[in-house]
Amino acid sequence: MKFNNYSKFEKAECEAFHNKAKEIKYNVHNKIGDGNEFTGWVNLPSSINKEFIDDIELTAKNFAKNIDFAVVIGIGGSYLGAKAVIDALNNSFSNFIKNDVPKILYAGFNISEDYLFELTEFLKDKKFGIIVISKSGTTLEPALAFRLLKNLLEKNIGVENASKKIIAITDKSRGALKTLATKNNYKTYEIPDNVGGRYSVLTPVGLLPICIAGFDIKKIIAGAIEMEKTSAENIAIEHDIAMQYAISRNILYKQGKKIEILVNYNPKLHFFGEWWKQLFGESEGKDGKGIFPAIADFSTDLHSMGQYIQDGERHIFETVLSIEKPFNSLTVPKAEENLDNLNFLAEKNVEFINKQAQEGTRLAHEMGKVTNFNIEIEKLDEINIGKLIYFFEKACAYSAYFIDVNPFNQPGVEAYKQKMFQLLEK
Ligand code: PA5
Repeated sequence: MKFNNYSKFEKAECEAFHNKAKEIKYNVHNKIGDGNEFTGWVNLPSSINKEFIDDIELTAKNFAKNIDFAVVIGIGGSYLGAKAVIDALNNSFSNFIKNDVPKILYAGFNISEDYLFELTEFLKDKKFGIIVISKSGTTLEPALAFRLLKNLLEKNIGVENASKKIIAITDKSRGALKTLATKNNYKTYEIPDNVGGRYSVLTPVGLLPICIAGFDIKKIIAGAIEMEKTSAENIAIEHDIAMQYAISRNILYKQGKKIEILVNYNPKLHFFGEWWKQLFGESEGKDGKGIFPAIADFSTDLHSMGQYIQDGERHIFETVLSIEKPFNSLTVPKAEENLDNLNFLAEKNVEFINKQAQEGTRLAHEMGKVTNFNIEIEKLDEINIGKLIYFFEKACAYSAYFIDVNPFNQPGVEAYKQKMFQLLEK
């Protein structure tokens, strides 16, 4: 995995960040920064043991028996990591392809009556199981979806059988979900106290759904361990790519670039962008500070946001998440008559064309004074996804400390909940 900072900052600009970078690196690894009670993720990959992985794999295997659909209920950090990884690794048309793993559906991230009606209506005559995830165990959106789906499942297969097809992932002792799970004897996993929602993808929160979807969690963890080592405390600032990314984005932030767009050229990465957006937005956006994280799916958004990026207000920069090699090969066929005028591309790989679009866009956007960073992985596989997860988690913590905010709390999220509950007369 590579981080390429195309803009080549002045040496002095980088050096100005070095002392603070050293202090931040020390604080993160020694767990003494603001919010240090939530730094369990720092050594999480290397602390995962074989028994834990075996248990997750066995649970996933048993859960998947006799069901066609697994509904993952959660919001924010309680579902985005799993969805990001599953979408990235799955066939783009997996929901229409018959295979031997359950299809994954999601709920608990909205309060749309139509969505929940359509979901319950769809599942009415289907074989399904539920994984309900909430660290606090009290979040309204997942709790509401769970009540509806639990009722449906109990109606379909009876209370006793339903309890065997429900898994709860929550706090070890607090919250309504914990109470419900204990009372109904659900299989339960704990979310470690020292890992916050948006940092929890490498705990059962992400690993169980990913495993049920048929992916190799051992490889994801191995990738994360590799990145944990590559950015360990003893690795110099110049060689720690997570720190390089954190410094680079903060240099731009200081220059007034307040918006970062994470760009992909592969639709499988759309939800990885959503996960990244939550990670950075909820970690950095506080105390009147923070880079606003946005995402763009190219080529799609080149034909919409492309105009703004090229030509609108100059307060943005881009980080392109690119993949060196696709898994498949597809070449453009030669056409006898060339009526579509595409023969100049005949026999070329589609990915070759995509790469030229990527490079052309970079050149155009840099002409438009939009700095481009590039994060490149070799392939979109489990190992590289594991690396990316840990890379961004660490870069995010580093980055928030550069602007002196606590990366691990979310006081702003409480505000809407309070107002909503007031209106609902809770
Ligand atoms: O990162 C976070 O802490 C949040 O995004 C939470 O994951 C989200 O609010 C859901 O909370 P909970 O898991 O308590 O239902």
